[in-house]
Amino acid sequence: MDPRPVRHLISLDDLTDADLRHLVERGAQFSAGTAGPARPLEGRVAGIYFAKTSTRTRTAFSAGTLRLGGSIVTYGPGDLQTNTGETSEDTGRILSRMLDVLVARTAGDPAEMRAWADQRRMAVVNAMSADEHPTQALTDLTTLLRHFGRVDGLRILYLGEGNNTAASLALALTRYPDVEFELRTPPGYGLTEPVLTAARAQAARTGARLRERHDMAALPDGFDVIYTTRWQTTGTTKPDPGWRDVFAPFHVGLGLWDTSPKAVFMHDLPAHRGEEVAAEVLDGPRSIAFEQAENKLHSAMAVLEWCRPAAGS
Ligand code: CP
Repeated sequence: MDPRPVRHLISLDDLTDADLRHLVERGAQFSAGTAGPARPLEGRVAGIYFAKTSTRTRTAFSAGTLRLGGSIVTYGPGDLQTNTGETSEDTGRILSRMLDVLVARTAGDPAEMRAWADQRRMAVVNAMSADEHPTQALTDLTTLLRHFGRVDGLRILYLGEGNNTAASLALALTRYPDVEFELRTPPGYGLTEPVLTAARAQAARTGARLRERHDMAALPDGFDVIYTTRWQTTGTTKPDPGWRDVFAPFHVGLGLWDTSPKAVFMHDLPAHRGEEVAAEVLDGPRSIAFEQAENKLHSAMAVLEWCRPAAGS
């Protein structure tokens, strides 16, 4: 087992500004085919543990590991002995003696991932927890860099729930100077106070701007990007039986394009056409949602390379 320390990615807060820029730029290099032929995971093993469903992220980290020369061990929701009462701490101690990287989606308490990461032999990567989706934000910024050639100074409108994807976007985008990140989230479904506080502190440092409102009034125009996510995050239902009425004003329809005629459309997928977004928008000429989905692979490769640095790097 390689004794050199590993880097965990559980929250965007685990990244320095330089780490974040490196991962986004490296993801764009993989996407552009200019990353070089290196196989930094040769002889290494990644555990791929998904307690929740996934099409993109699980495939991206599995295929990414294999493309970088590594091997994978996969676990589904019923496979680990945590189901029968083994502690998260013991699970991390054991897996770290056998794996180099653990990529995990729990959609639950991030403390579980922190417990797994309480060792220095196996990198732990958050493939989505209840509070954050950091690898999605890296994918999204990689996509912005590929499409616009920059992230600095972009104007991005986010419509929909202030969920884990929105939280990670807020924590990532506010690291970039002059970015304008405008969120319109349904009342009762906004970003959490800790995320707002952290993102606003970063924005004050970098000159980015973050605004959140819970209606569609006085919406600025001329955005570069309009972004939404599925209303039922990871397929979960909401306790309020009237939630669809609360979300309805935040639907991305064709009318929105009149106010931002140059904007591209982004979506982390999976999508529900006719719910959060009109089919004509998602499948239209200004949608880059499927390039964005492909960038999950390129961004995962950047993360895998970074979290277990090769000798000499
Ligand atoms: N966007 C995203 O995380 O997709 P999956 O749930 O399919 O991994």
